[in-house]
Amino acid sequence: MPKSAQMDFEHIVANARDAFAQAEDIVSLENVKARFLGKSGQLSTLLKTLSALDVAARKREGARMNAAKQQIEELLRARREELKHALMQRRLAAEAIDITLPGRGIGPGTLHPVMNSWERVENIFRSIGFDVTDGLEIETEWYNFTALNSPENHPARSMQDTFYIDACSEQGERLLLRTHTSPMQIRYVRTHRPPLRVITAGRTYRVDSDATHAPMFHQVEGLWIDERISFAELKGVYIHFLHQFFECNDIQVRFRPSYFPFTEPSAEIDMKFERGRYAGRWLEVSGAGQVHPNVLCNMGLDPERYMGFAFGSGLERLTMLRYGVEDLRLFFEGDIRFLQQFA
Ligand code: PHE
Repeated sequence: MPKSAQMDFEHIVANARDAFAQAEDIVSLENVKARFLGKSGQLSTLLKTLSALDVAARKREGARMNAAKQQIEELLRARREELKHALMQRRLAAEAIDITLPGRGIGPGTLHPVMNSWERVENIFRSIGFDVTDGLEIETEWYNFTALNSPENHPARSMQDTFYIDACSEQGERLLLRTHTSPMQIRYVRTHRPPLRVITAGRTYRVDSDATHAPMFHQVEGLWIDERISFAELKGVYIHFLHQFFECNDIQVRFRPSYFPFTEPSAEIDMKFERGRYAGRWLEVSGAGQVHPNVLCNMGLDPERYMGFAFGSGLERLTMLRYGVEDLRLFFEGDIRFLQQFA
């Protein structure tokens, strides 16, 4: 038998074993496989030389070749499994959850500083006999403007530019996001008879945005109506409120003449701390005034008999002054580093 017929299958199988072992992943393993089992692989090359052998040798070598092929296929299968298993192990390790790690815990949370002011304001007014009600954030033009004595096309409407809604109320009135909490005055008095004392707080909206104005902000509205409720009561109530809210009696308050369509006379309420970071500066905190006779009529009251006062203050403004916050936008950014300071 010629030397070339003594085919060295053991050597090929050993080579395959080494080569497969060196393949580090499935893709390189499949590439290496071609060197042994592929069309121009080492076995196929030998196969072509079989025909040169005599029948007996061809039979014997053919059987040895098949055995070698099977061994190589088995080696390949085993290595494939090994690599798959290793891959899975790596994945499991990477995705593992360390259940021994202590949890992050759930922070107890706390009221937002503006909500905290809202609660404080309600409590202060409750303690002096005011009822607490709420209003609607989507209002009709009538409640937000017309009933409050600012007729259509009146320039005062553009002082409070707002967001209109594409839909109408059931009665076909234009809808908008309320620009102030004052519509509550009309709604409340239409369903309650004087004497009445009430406050409401909530979100209001205007086309406004800078360090001291936001398109959405909070107001608190107060209203007291009876037969003889004058500016004197407004002063008494509001000054009491400021002392309570700021927990400080060293506050000067002034009522500066102003204009609102729904009050007459009207005033801006300014305050001045004697001490602290704002000491000596007049700070505006509220609009206020005696309820206008036309508004009393729209409430369904006789202006000859009833009178009263109303005020509207910004809750963010009050909160900023209480804590010395300089930028209103901080209240709306949800930055935990800011909010945690109020916890
Ligand atoms: N609604 C007024 C505003 O938003 C404030 C105000 C309320 C003034 C009640 C007078 C009386 O500016």
